[in-house]
Amino acid sequence: MTVLGLVLSLSLLLSTTTTHARTVFSELAVNGVDQGHAVGIRVPSSNAPVLNISSNDIICNKKFIQPVSQAIIKVAAGEEVTAHFHHSPAGFQGPDPADPLDPTNKGPVLAYLAPVPSATESDVTGLGWFKIFEDGLDPDTHQWGSDHVFTNKGNVTFLIPPCIRSGQYLLRVEDIG
Ligand SMILES: *[C@@H]1O[C@H](CO)[C@@H](O)[C@H](O)[C@H]1NC(C)=O
Ligand SMILES: *[C@@H]1O[C@H](CO)[C@@H](O)[C@H](O)[C@H]1NC(C)=O
Repeated sequence: MTVLGLVLSLSLLLSTTTTHARTVFSELAVNGVDQGHAVGIRVPSSNAPVLNISSNDIICNKKFIQPVSQAIIKVAAGEEVTAHFHHSPAGFQGPDPADPLDPTNKGPVLAYLAPVPSATESDVTGLGWFKIFEDGLDPDTHQWGSDHVFTNKGNVTFLIPPCIRSGQYLLRVEDIG
């Protein structure tokens, strides 16, 4: 069995100026088993969007909640992962019409991997990201990936492709509003 070491990095780009759409990826489940809030993930302390797409902050957002988890989440190639998004970096905080995000803000949801020498490394610039998942606009239902995030209460589920070689990777999951 191929085993991946993953540290999950958060990425969020919202070009909208509304304050409601912001959402944060702060927890991962592997085959439905939650790994714990902020475990193996760089979670920003604010849900403020990164607006400068030339900035390195676009990779994982910024001002991570300290200390950053040093856990590496093991996932076998071909296994299913679920990224959990919520309005607050702290995760689900009770009833909130904008949790996991403001449903009026539409856009695609994407996931990427990048191989790294060590998944706990803090210098994450210059990486070779490749896309493993996308959920854009379904022309038949007029639903965006963001609609599915809302309907699924913040869950975004996809496969780590079976062809991924064993090694350490960063996983970036983003919702673009
Ligand atoms: C955006 O980020 C780039 C790269 O760090 C920087 O050179 C540029 O000044 C930034 N632009 C703004 C408007 O902050
Ligand atoms: C979200 O995923 C978790 C497992 O990570 C599961 O327990 C929960 O039922 C899921 N919720 C929805 C609405 O799919």
